[in-house]
Amino acid sequence: MKQKQLIIGNWKMNPRTVLEAQKLFDDIKKEVAVFQGTDVAVCPPFVFLSGLSALNSGKEISLGAQNVSSEEEGACTGEISVGMLKTLSVKFAIIGHSERRAMGETDEMVSKKVVAAVKAGLTAVLCVGERERDHESAFLQILKEQIIASLSGISERQLKNVVIAYEPVWAIGAKAKGVVEPEALLETIIFIRKVLSDLYSQKTAHAMKILYGGSVDEKNAGSFLKEGGANGLLVGRASLNAKKFVEILKIADNI
Ligand code: 13P
Repeated sequence: MKQKQLIIGNWKMNPRTVLEAQKLFDDIKKEVAVFQGTDVAVCPPFVFLSGLSALNSGKEISLGAQNVSSEEEGACTGEISVGMLKTLSVKFAIIGHSERRAMGETDEMVSKKVVAAVKAGLTAVLCVGERERDHESAFLQILKEQIIASLSGISERQLKNVVIAYEPVWAIGAKAKGVVEPEALLETIIFIRKVLSDLYSQKTAHAMKILYGGSVDEKNAGSFLKEGGANGLLVGRASLNAKKFVEILKIADNI
């Protein structure tokens, strides 16, 4: 059976108000019922999760968080636990996004968060990606180390609750140096599967969802999914525009 594509919108620190968040969510929700071959999720800022969860009684769109605490409860000012997210029917947690790594999140912290999320039954969207792509392919070693360290507490059985998002840092955001070419993406995804296969097994590595993120839009989405071999996309800016995001969903659903 064909594996479903997984398209996740990472809203980052947007939009500005609850009303705008609800409108964006509703505009996407209206369109998603028709997509049979695609799972859809959005990851709004924490403060909007509760309101959007209430709007989502039919669970047409899965909800995700953009971060999570590695601790279950207690004296952790400013943190949000996996248990709290579970009460809002949150399904995904983005972990180790490069923007958080840039704020000081280490592989060790990422690893603890992945364990906490998976233990609670959330699906961890583990982000990995190099800052620069060099011609000697040294970036592959960086990716390998990130994957090994970030998954250090995860057993083969638990891996079904992990999705990997390959997000090259240089391809992210309005100041991106470019986008990854689909052929280069395919090679990188094959490399990631090899790392997973060495860590776990070929069967598990083959079954894992590997997403691509970095300047995805309605024009390039198809190439990442078809020629690039990605099982889905983690979309930043384009997910803040309902029309563009729905266009990406349509493309994914037709593959
Ligand atoms: P952009 O799509 O805005 O480049 O962001 C990608 C990203 O970081 C998704 O997590």
